[in-house]
Order: sequence, then structure tokens, then C-alpha cells
Amino acid sequence: MWQLRLSHMSDTLTITDNRTGKIYELPIEQGTIKAMDLRQIRASADDFGLMTYDPAFQNTAACRSAITFIDGDKGILLYRGYAIDDLAERSTFLETAYLILFGELPTAPQLEAWIREITLHTMLHENVKKFMEGFQYDAHPMGILLSTVGCLSTIYPDARRISQEDGRRLQIRRLIAKVPTVAAWAYRHSIGRPYVYPDNDLSFTGNFLNMLFKMTELKYRPHPVLERALDVLFILHADHEQNCSTSAMRAIGSSQADPYSALAGAAAALAGPLHGGANEAVLRMLKEIGTVQRVPEFIRRVKGGDGRLMGFGHRVYKSYDPRARIIKQTADQVFAVTGRNPLLDIALELERIALEDDYFISRKLYPNVDFYSGLIYQAMGFPVDMFAVLFAIPRTAGWLAQWDEMLRDADQKIARPRQVYTGAGRREYIGIDARK
Ligand code: CMC
Repeated sequence: MWQLRLSHMSDTLTITDNRTGKIYELPIEQGTIKAMDLRQIRASADDFGLMTYDPAFQNTAACRSAITFIDGDKGILLYRGYAIDDLAERSTFLETAYLILFGELPTAPQLEAWIREITLHTMLHENVKKFMEGFQYDAHPMGILLSTVGCLSTIYPDARRISQEDGRRLQIRRLIAKVPTVAAWAYRHSIGRPYVYPDNDLSFTGNFLNMLFKMTELKYRPHPVLERALDVLFILHADHEQNCSTSAMRAIGSSQADPYSALAGAAAALAGPLHGGANEAVLRMLKEIGTVQRVPEFIRRVKGGDGRLMGFGHRVYKSYDPRARIIKQTADQVFAVTGRNPLLDIALELERIALEDDYFISRKLYPNVDFYSGLIYQAMGFPVDMFAVLFAIPRTAGWLAQWDEMLRDADQKIARPRQVYTGAGRREYIGIDARK
């Protein structure tokens, strides 16, 4: 067995291998050692070398990134150095998307050109519409979204030119512009209404609301408070560094697949209830609880290991998620227009009890971004099936920024984790007649 003695110096890690007596000095850079540096630690020439075992990548940095900074203990979230609170208050989603993708806030002419470029790409090829019409009448919009985004790779074969920057930028513009159209049509499909074509006179979120909710009126006019609220929610969801779906985007992109295929995979990762499907799960949980009086009983069940308090807890935030705080303010503005969501009282009571309860305090479980977002979406008229789709629209900007950064990173290669094999050793094949 390995017997290692570790000594932690200022910028190196000294490892003494007691089996061989060898001493290894591993450089520490930016708070990390290179996992590949461990490979030199071998007991013999035919030894594979030391590896780390890190299921779910809880303590492994898989890349260097200059996009999003999170301090989970202090509840800080920065995009390219700008605080999420400032962006939510003063920026727009498209401006924030530009910042995330290109590293700097745009000048006025740059922003104007960027908005024009995105707006030019909102239409979908009619064949995409035919493709979408083929889905089952009650198909889940998230399933439609991720399949249709994958289908877009067949419409844009030039997307495989991932090594050329102009080609990547074109696909980035297309995806940011077209994902809302696919998302809106997925919703219209799931409720059996005709698809609405984009209205390029409207803002990014105004047009999205138009494609979702336009009926027989000649011109759809979004409510300015709801249009802005959705824009703020989109800013909050635009990126969140190396989460499950972003890691999927990077892993698929690392095989040099086209960005539509990679983004379909990222959307699939987002769909699960522990990630982007959490706000849908929160709403279902609040409905199941039903009344404020039943909250203590529900908390007791969760503490007893029967289910989770959805919308609580985070792998990185070990204090209040800063996005949840902003969302709570946005909720007040939305409810002033739409009327108060009756489930809000149950959510507030859950939060009150959980924040005073030792089970949640000792595990550092606080409300995350999804705890209140579903209540807002529901008040705005979105069915719960659409919640993860609403997450995917702004996250498209983050996924693409991370994908582009990964392709430009000389350290990156095809993603390929190792394993610790625990199965049978080599054994002889037994003919079926001889098996017991
Ligand atoms: N309710 C009750 N207990 C919880 C919860 C919860 N929501 N989250 C974690 N715990 C407990 C868990 O049972 C464990 O307890 P113990 O140590 O006694 O076994 C402890 O807290 C640590 O949990 P974990 O599962 O090891 O933590 P993780 O970092 O692997 O999981 C999480 C993070 C977000 C998946 C988890 O907190 C969770 O399932 N939350 C509910 C789902 C949710 O709201 N997801 C949205 C995340 S934010 C949006 C996004 O980025 O997608």
C-alpha cells in the first residue's frame, strides 16, 4: 500500500513515498497541483503511477477559465469581474451575453451591432418547423428543445468548422438568436397552438414573450415590467462556471463535435431535477405541500431522509446564493403586475423554518437560484414544463463562451477521465452448456 507523507510548503508540495524512499516536489500553482504530476510517483517501472479518485469532480479543476468567478463561502458571483448585482440592476441580457462571450462590456456601437446581428438570426429554417411538428402532441418542451438544437447541426453543416474563429462566431450568434425561437415553438407545440414567427421590432425578451403568448392581435406588446423581469432572470442564469451542463458542453466540445451537438448535450444535462429541472421540482414540491400548515411536517420528512428540499443547497455556495436574493426582489415587481403567487407563502415559510433549523444550518443549505424563480415564471404564465427551457435560453451564452474558451486553450485535449477498475480479473470464457 502507499504510505505517503505530505508536507505543504509555500509553493510546492513535498511527497515522500515510504515504500521507495523517493521524495517528489510538486509545484503548486493557483492553489492546485497538476494531477499528471502524481503519475511520476511509482513503486516500480511497471507501476501505472498515482492517480486521484474524485467522483463528481468535487475537488478537481478541469480547466482555467476567465469567465465567471464564484466565492461560494461569501456568496459572490462575478461575470468577467462584474458583480451579478450590478449587472442585474444596470445591464441587459444581450449586453451581459456579449460581456461573457468577449470579455469586456461593449461600447455603444459594438452593442448596437451585436443586437442587430442577434436579431438577424432569430428565424428558423422551415424544415426545422417541420421537424418540430413531428413531436408527440404532449411532448415535454425540454425534450423538444434539446432534440431540435441537435437537429440544427444538420441544417448548418458549416458548424463543423470549429477551428476558425469567424465560423465559431457565426454559430454563436445563430445559437443565441435561435434557441429562444426553438424554445417558444416547443411551448406552442406542447399546447397545440400555431408557432409564432419572431418580431424583430421587439427586444430579445419582448420577442420571446411574443413568440410564446401572441394570439390573434396584429402586434404583440409585452408588459414592460415582465419584459425587464425576464431579462433580469436571463442575466442571472447566463453562466455559472463549471456546473454539470457546462462540463457536458466542454466534454462534448472537446471531441471537436459541432456546437449544436454539444449544446444539445449540455441542454440534456440541464434537464435533470438536480440541475436546471430544480425549479420545476420546487413548484411540484410546493404544490404537494399545499398549505403553510403542512410545512413543518414536510421539513420533518426531509430531515428523516425522505426526499430533498428542492431549491435548497448548492455544490459551490455554502451561504445564500446571490442570485436568489436578486430573484426575491424581482418576484415582488412581477407579483405587483400579475398578482401574488399563492405558493409564495409556502415558500417563505419553508425558507424561514429551514434557515433556523440545525439540519440545514450545519450542512450550509441555503436557497439557491431555483427556489423562487419558478414562482415568478408561474406568475408570468409559464407552465412548469417550461422552466428548464427558460434556464437553457440564457445559459446558451455561458455554454458557448465556455466552449469557445476551451477550444482556444492550449492545455485542453479530448476529455477522458480515468477509472478505478473494481470488476473481475481475467477469466476463461465458459460455453453456455457448462454454465451453472
Ligand atoms: N434538502 C435536504 N438535504 C440536502 C439538500 C436538500 N436540498 N441538499 C443537500 N442535502 C444534504 C444531503 O442529504 C447531505 O446530507 P448528509 O451529509 O447527511 O448525507 C448533505 O446535505 C450534502 O449534500 P450533497 O448531496 O453531498 O451535496 P452536493 O453538493 O452533492 O449537492 C445539490 C448539491 C444542489 C445537488 C443538492 O444540494 C440538491 O440536491 N439540492 C436540491 C436540488 C436543487 O435545488 N438543485 C439546484 C441547484 S442550483 C441550480 C443549478 O446550478 O442547477
